[in-house]
Amino acid sequence: MSSHTQGHEESGATARPGPPGPSGRLRVAVLVSGGGTNLQALIDWAKQGRLEADIVCVGSDRASAYGLVRAQQAGIPTFVVSYEKYLKGPLDEPAEEALIASVDARQRILHDPDGESRRDRLRRLIAAEKEILAHLEAHGADLVCLAGFMRLLTPFFLGRFRRNDRPGVVNIHPALLPAFPGQHGYRDTYRYGCKWGGITIHFVDEGEDTGPVIAQAVYPIWDEDACEDVQQRGLHLEHIMYAQVINWIARDRVRLVPRPGGRPRVCIEDPLYREVVGSWVEAAFRTNPDVELRRT
Ligand code: GRF
Repeated sequence: MSSHTQGHEESGATARPGPPGPSGRLRVAVLVSGGGTNLQALIDWAKQGRLEADIVCVGSDRASAYGLVRAQQAGIPTFVVSYEKYLKGPLDEPAEEALIASVDARQRILHDPDGESRRDRLRRLIAAEKEILAHLEAHGADLVCLAGFMRLLTPFFLGRFRRNDRPGVVNIHPALLPAFPGQHGYRDTYRYGCKWGGITIHFVDEGEDTGPVIAQAVYPIWDEDACEDVQQRGLHLEHIMYAQVINWIARDRVRLVPRPGGRPRVCIEDPLYREVVGSWVEAAFRTNPDVELRRT
């Protein structure tokens, strides 16, 4: 697993995945870039009293993200960090070279062979991440859930935002990793001609969609499906899975087990684990009534 060591070069103002709030409940920040149907599902679970965590803020890199509207309608504080400003404009306080070099040595998201332009990009990403961290700290967030957030986080952010020395950032990906990483999980699954699609929820590490897998589930893809049918069926599954995984984390049921020489394994300590996973796959068969109708 990612060992985001917190070297001395990373000290300074930062978000602290703080103690649980007065209620003792997990405080979740959700980051979105788009429509936010996953966020909506979490909000709905929370309203129904089924989410064992509080959504304390919603952040975005895009002021126009509809997810922000969903949050505001639910009375959740929002913030926007303009990556464009950091990526294109002058930097007020560029991070020091030693920090950039240390982050560059650990990161696996930027592959530009030109070290100078790679480090320039890192410097800019870190500046944006510092602003996000300040918002997370202000809201006392314990856990960050990426829900369609289209920016890659650097080891700087991941090293700063940890939960009691455990990974603090979780992502939901619309494919059965390690198949089809990247931005188009549904499209890539569909175009490949897969008979099953999948969803993966994982801790975020230094790579793109490479972190330890927390939960996965699959759904069938029928011959007559269009790509939109596949996405709709998968999203339905996403909406059930994300809340469940947050609940497992809130109940401290998620264990990251290191394995010498191999990837760490995430174990879920829930006696009902098999039933839960079974219910996901069953739900995936039941969903998409439009498709079922069309087939009769
Ligand atoms: C989801 O498919 C999620 O898996 C991926 O981005 C999409 C976000 O969708 N990371 P939404 O904004 O939650 O509707």
